[in-house]
Amino acid sequence: MKKNLSLFVFTIFSVLGVAQSASAQTLTLQLDKATRQVSPTLYGMMTEEINYAYEGGLYAQLLRDVAIREMVETPRGQRRGGWGQPPRLRTWLATDTLQVQTRIMNNALVIRDSELLIDNTRFTRHNALSIHTEVDGEGVTNAGFWGIRVDPASTYLGSLYIKGVGNMTVSLVSADKKSVYASQTIDFSSSDFSLYDISLTTSTGFSPTKDAIFSVTFKSAGDYQIAYPTLFPTEKRDGKLSKLTFRQDIMQLMKDMHPKFLRFPGGNYLEGNKFNERFDWKRTIGPLALRPGHQSPWGYWSTDGMGLLEFLCWAEECGAEPILGVFAGYVLGGDFVEGDAVKPFITEALEEIEYVIGGPDTKWGARRALDGHPAPFPLHYVEIGNEDFFDRSGSYSNRFEQFYEAIKAKYPQLQIISTLEERRLRAESNDPEGMKVDVIDEHYYRNTEGMYKAAQQYDTYDRQGPKIFCGEWASREGDPTTNMNAALGDAAWMTCMERNSDILVAHCYAPLFVNVSRDEDRYPGMQWKSDLIGYDAFSAFGSPSYYAQSMFASYLGDKVIPIEAAGMPQMQYGQGELPQLYYVATLDSNTGRIYLKVVNGGATAVSVKLQNGSALFRGRIQKIELKASGPEETNTIDNPTNIVPKELTIKLPKTSMVNIAPYSINVLVIG
Ligand code: AHR
Repeated sequence: MKKNLSLFVFTIFSVLGVAQSASAQTLTLQLDKATRQVSPTLYGMMTEEINYAYEGGLYAQLLRDVAIREMVETPRGQRRGGWGQPPRLRTWLATDTLQVQTRIMNNALVIRDSELLIDNTRFTRHNALSIHTEVDGEGVTNAGFWGIRVDPASTYLGSLYIKGVGNMTVSLVSADKKSVYASQTIDFSSSDFSLYDISLTTSTGFSPTKDAIFSVTFKSAGDYQIAYPTLFPTEKRDGKLSKLTFRQDIMQLMKDMHPKFLRFPGGNYLEGNKFNERFDWKRTIGPLALRPGHQSPWGYWSTDGMGLLEFLCWAEECGAEPILGVFAGYVLGGDFVEGDAVKPFITEALEEIEYVIGGPDTKWGARRALDGHPAPFPLHYVEIGNEDFFDRSGSYSNRFEQFYEAIKAKYPQLQIISTLEERRLRAESNDPEGMKVDVIDEHYYRNTEGMYKAAQQYDTYDRQGPKIFCGEWASREGDPTTNMNAALGDAAWMTCMERNSDILVAHCYAPLFVNVSRDEDRYPGMQWKSDLIGYDAFSAFGSPSYYAQSMFASYLGDKVIPIEAAGMPQMQYGQGELPQLYYVATLDSNTGRIYLKVVNGGATAVSVKLQNGSALFRGRIQKIELKASGPEETNTIDNPTNIVPKELTIKLPKTSMVNIAPYSINVLVIG
């Protein structure tokens, strides 16, 4: 067995023995013709700040709106086409005194651009809360991202800027304030903002819960100002407590996907609605409180706690390499630069690449070392912009050419990805013949029917042209996370990409994450429906699409085995008929093991005879099966393992017939 997929693996010995007479439904694997290479970077992940992916997701910071921005700056709806707008939030609430609460609600107590003294220098990066209490023991609370998870006997570390003289209690308490999980008293005396450490260790004797809030109360009535509080869960590293940057449950789900790359930082998040809202990488590195943060195109404030180095470390922790998207001078609002005005952005991209792969003797490699990661990261692909096919100005071709030339001159080993198809790239170029491009990024958001219909799409692509990166795709069925129907469409589409992985060098599903916290019948954390991994403040789960991804990525050879199919059934789907089965096979040339993937989108089981050339397969095989009783079935935060892969060992009958269950995705491991 190659890799264990998850905890939900059952080993069952069964003899599939309905001895049927030789069926017309035959898959003949042509092992002698297995010459097409499987791309070593085929399966990966794509990420951006959407659906509370980082803040309220992977990024382990427990407090919300630490820059005190969200509460006071109404996001402007400048995004394309009616995507869900997150609600305006009242994250910071005053404790019981009505007068204080009213004043905070009216923003009367928010100080804009508070002056924080960081490393002996004054910075006006963030807002502060000015708290006037007239009653002892009052203050403010923060409810995190739809709750804060606390565990017994655990330590949470953070810090807080405070100005004033007094004594405060910081604590983690239940939402009704009846239970105190942890608390700490801090004496402070400062006429300027000074930084105080927070260390909260919870008691025992309670069960893990997300029904917690963070509270800051003042012993006596007075005037206080607080800014940039942080609070992180911890882990023991080298015998010492360290703050966690990433939520470990979500990280584990990603590790189980065996991704080979991480495409970041977007997506629309790379571009932003306006130039000053793009992913400006230099403003995302260094100490957290020094990062100014920015408005994301998905309607909420990003503190950039998840900055360039965090993305790189995330990829590294998952065993993946980055596919780095660099800002290319076009923003979602439609503004763009051209000609010489592109040059500063090229310099910015070259410096960013140097930060990723430069040695410690380079300016930005040295800066990376200073930030905590001396070793360079691996990098093979750099993408210029994101979805510039939306740019109707015709400026991309020239912008791309300038980036291409400059990056190749310094880093000839890098493969450069265009976000515009080759035909348009050349059509918009002044030098169509001289135009060079290594890889084209294609995006496909379809329904399941669309995926079934496209399941042969790459079979006819020109083998001499640029390589393809399918940098965003999904079968959009079900929400907030996808259902089995989506997983079936996804799997059919993956058979196509895997079969053509000589030209399709990499692909990744999007979006990866969604915060599924509920507010009555709404999901306030979701801006984009049909996502791969869902979570709330307490736990995380994989959708059926997630398990389909993990299965496909976990069982993969290095050569594509051509398959000759005979007698394959059709199914009624949508307005017409479509093939019922979708399949692909690869060979691990080291072990001789075959990975045959078969997807059944129909409501009936299909018995398929397996042949190696003209010889029938014999003996035992492993079958990893993901199936549901109906296409609408799904996993949820309350029922997270309803649909998970099961592993069986099968003894092939003499006829070499394998049963493919209705609505199922199967990996057959032969050899
Ligand atoms: O994945 C969601 C969005 O879809 C991405 O931000 C964008 O690139 C695409 O339009």
